[in-house]
Parts: sequence; C-alpha cells; structure tokens
Amino acid sequence: MKKLMELMSEELSQAFEKAGYDPALGKVTVSNRPDLCEYQCNGAMAGAKAYKKAPFMIADEVAANLADTKVFSMVEVVRPGFLNLKISNAYLADYLKEMDQDEKLSVNAAAEPKTIMIDYGGPNVAKPLHVGHLRSAIIGESIKRIGRYMGHKVIGDVHLGDWGLQMGLIITELKLRKPELPYFDEAYDGEYPAEAPFTLSELEEIYPCASGKSKVDEDYKNAALDATFQLQQGRKGYVALWKHILNVSIPDLKRNYEKLNVDFELWKAESDAKPYVADMVQNMKDQGLAYEDQGALVVDVKQEDDTKEVPPCMILKSDGASLYTTTDLATILERMQLFDPDEILYVVDKRQEMHFTQVFRCAKKAGIAKEDTKLSFLGFGTMNGKDGKPFKTRDGGVMRLENLIKDINQEMYKKIVENRSVKDLDAEETARIVGLSAIKYGDLSNQATKDYIFDIDRFTSFEGNTGPYILYTIVRIKSILNRYAEEGGVLDGEILPAVNASEKALQMQLTGFGAMVENAYADKAPHKVCAYIYEVSNAFNSFYHETKILSEENEAQKKSFLALLKLTRTVLETCIDLLGFSAPERM
Ligand code: ARG
Repeated sequence: MKKLMELMSEELSQAFEKAGYDPALGKVTVSNRPDLCEYQCNGAMAGAKAYKKAPFMIADEVAANLADTKVFSMVEVVRPGFLNLKISNAYLADYLKEMDQDEKLSVNAAAEPKTIMIDYGGPNVAKPLHVGHLRSAIIGESIKRIGRYMGHKVIGDVHLGDWGLQMGLIITELKLRKPELPYFDEAYDGEYPAEAPFTLSELEEIYPCASGKSKVDEDYKNAALDATFQLQQGRKGYVALWKHILNVSIPDLKRNYEKLNVDFELWKAESDAKPYVADMVQNMKDQGLAYEDQGALVVDVKQEDDTKEVPPCMILKSDGASLYTTTDLATILERMQLFDPDEILYVVDKRQEMHFTQVFRCAKKAGIAKEDTKLSFLGFGTMNGKDGKPFKTRDGGVMRLENLIKDINQEMYKKIVENRSVKDLDAEETARIVGLSAIKYGDLSNQATKDYIFDIDRFTSFEGNTGPYILYTIVRIKSILNRYAEEGGVLDGEILPAVNASEKALQMQLTGFGAMVENAYADKAPHKVCAYIYEVSNAFNSFYHETKILSEENEAQKKSFLALLKLTRTVLETCIDLLGFSAPERM
C-alpha cells in the first residue's frame, strides 16, 4: 500500500510536470511550520536555478494546477516560493479506512523475504544473568519482531557461552572442594551419576569464588586454563561435569528469558561449533591464510584503509585451545551449513566491536561466510546508574537481572495501588506487565548504540515518555471501547473526516505507521517505534481531552470516533508487540 506521503508527492509531481517542470520537484515533507500548514513542498525553490525563474512564479503555476485537487484542502504559495499544504479531511479519512483494511496496516512486506539469524542474549552458563545481558535480549527481540513484521524469516539464537574459561574455573573449584567425585578420576570407567553434584545456588556461588581466586593465584588460574583445555579436548569426566552445569543452568536461564517475554528459536551454544573447528582450521591453513605467530595460529585481517589498528585474528592459542574467535568463526560455518542465512546480525555490547571486525573479516577472507552473506554488528551502549557509572546494586555488586525485575515490579506495584482502580487481586499481575514495559521501553526508547541511565523512578512513571504512559493510553482506549460494548454498542462505523484539529492531528499521526516500521527495520532502530508511539499517544490524549466520545449525540459521528479509537489501539498494540511487551486489560 502506498504511503500517504507518497500519494501527496505524486499529486504534486503531476502538477509540476503539467506546468513543464521536473516531476521530481514534487516531494512533499511534513511541515516545519505547523502553525501555517501540515505539509510543505520546497520544489519550486529547488527548481528556480535550473529554470532561471523566480521560485514563487513556479510555485504559482504549480498551485494553479492543483486548483481542483482532491488530496489537499489548501495549497498556498508563500514567498519566496514555498508551497504550504493542508491535506483534505475526506482524503485523509479515506486513507485511514484503507489502512485499517490492510493486513499490515500499510507496511509493505519484503518482496523477497530473507533468512536472517540474530545472535542475541549471549548469557554465560553458570553465571547468573546480569543487566549486561538485558540490553542484548531486549534489543534483539525487538529487531526480530520488526523483521518478522516486514515478512522476513528471522531466527533468534541465544548462543550460550559454555565453552570458555568459566567452565575450567568451575571444574577446578569443584575438584578442590570434592576431590572424591568420580569425574576427576581419569581411571574411572563406570557410569557417572545422573544427578549433578551441585545445585543452582551452589553453582552461582562457585563461579565468582573461583573467578576471584584465579585473579590472585597464578597456579589456580593455570589449573583452570588446563581444565578448560582438557574439557575442549573431550576429557570424559569433565564433559560429564559440563553437561551437569548446562542442565542446571539452562532451565534457570529459560525462566528468566520467559519473564522478559524474550524467546529464542535456537538454544545453541558455543560448544555446538566444536565439530566444525578442526576442518575450518585446516582449511585456513591450506589456503595459506593461517600462520603461526609465537606459537599461536593467526590470520591477518588488517586493511589498507583502516584508521585504527586491527590486530591479526587469533584462531588457536599456543596450546591448541579454542578462543572466543574460534567458536564465533566455527559458529558462522555451522550457521551457513545449517541455515544458509542472508544475514547474521549480532546484538552485543559495543565494546566487543573489534572482536567482531576481526571475526567478520576472517570469515569473509576464508570463505566461511559467502560473499553476499551480510555479517552485521549492532553494538549497544552501557546501561548506567543515576551516578553515570555502570549499573550496580546498592552495595556495589553486579546487579542480577532477577533482582532488577523484582525492584521494578515492586515500584510499579506501589504506583498502581496508589493510582488504584484495579482490585488488589490483579494488581500484582498488572505490576508485572506494566513493569516489563517500564524496563523495555526505558531501554528501547534510547538509540541502541548510546549509553543510557537506568532510572527506576522515571521509567515507572505514568507520565512522560515511558512504557507505563503508553500502556495507560492503550488501557484508556480499551476501556472506552469496552464501555461502549457493554452498553450494547457495535463497532461497525467508519472513520469520517476529522471534525476538529486534535482529531485530524491524531489521524495524520496514524498514517505514519507504515513508513515508520519500514524505517525502523532498515535502520535496526526500535527507538523509532518508541518515538512514534509516544507521538501517537500524545495525539490521542489531546483528542480524548477535547472531544466528547461516548456522549456524542450524532450516532454516525460517535461510531466514527470509536472506529478511530479502534485503529489507534491496533496501531499502538502492534507497536508494543514489536517492542516485545503487551498491555493489561486495566491498570
Ligand atoms: N557470551 C558473551 C558475553 O557474555 C556474548 C556472546 C555474544 N555472541 C557471540 N556470538 N559472540 O560477553
């Protein structure tokens, strides 16, 4: 379906052409003088030089050709040569009717759907999810949903960190604490116990303890490195322990992601790339790309036009152990073989940008990813506390995601109860739904690459540019529609031409949905969805305050208002679904 802006531009282009000018001059934009007009066209100004004519003369001719336009209710020439425009209320209402009928609300889905894999989440097993993983999950999930709305096949992969040093650290600490376990006895050839030798909370205590020790004790660290290596080489007892670690951690991770309304099609892990490593390395050696440098195996990836140094990509450590790069490269190989994606997008902390530059270049150079497979990196900024430093708990520790969610929900609960219209029974569930909007909107309304300040007070407020404000608006609309239905009303009216300025402003806002979604997808920018729904919500609330809706006496007019409400609700609910949260029935 054509965008309203396109239709208006076509109308202008024809008028330019009819007057003998280049139709390309007919581009219409949103007015930057909303006090004077709704839209404008600066084509006469742009064409003046080429046609050696005063801009207002060109504009006059164009305006004359629009004398009986159905698209505009006002075409005004303003010196030196602007065309100030107002859209016709009838034309606008007709456009909305068509948009309302359109399955995708005027979004043009991709003509050729692409297969896109998104690597987001990236939690490390055995380490609790912390707020660093929150952004990846929230942003990745939203981009996935926007991509799907655009008609693409999008596959989300959690890509668990399960193959690095943290595994060796846990094994080392466990060996120290329970040396009698069969996992450490290389001669043992019986069955290993089915039950893990630790609980989740023990595991969560073991890792930081081991990590702390390795920082001050060289021998301990070497033992952990060695255990990591042996695990990667397939030492039986260690592999069995590693499986226990996964079995204990993964259900907990799943629970946490579920709370965030984030879900992954694939629960793959770094270790899944292991079977691809040997061939991949051999292949890079055969191509003459990989060479030994101080014992390690590396591939050069620098380019002439680099403005900062890009060090060689390390493929294997001197002891032959896999690195973060190794698993990422082998994972690309695995993804190419299993899914043949057109694009792989990584949503990871921007501090890892260099790592991905190296990996992408190496993957292209070695032919691991096809020439036309897009490898893209969306690096996000840090979530800071009010002090401007990375978000911490009150006592300075790393904030666990679970606790963060709990804090938000508590705050939300307090506010909802103060505000109170819902029975207390629902309040907790409502707080959970609204709390999630506070967290996600708080994050997504910022451009992903920027750092932002996580401010519970602001994020949970019902006023301002917040998730709860958006939900409050949706709930307000729902309650009007429900009241109408309860009184026996049927929503069968059609949207009529706007009767006041705030209604027209709302209608114009709604027409922007299609272009906004296409744009948010192209730029991988969920913040554009947020900016849009904030404007729609503001426009709706102004309309609501200025217009009697249910008490409107003219039945057709009342039904038209309600049809507009319904479309507004659909647009807003579609948008929050793209952001990964939903609205309660009441709040
Ligand atoms: N586990 C990593 C971390 O916590 C993030 C993984 C991101 N994805 C990837 N393919 N490297 O830093």
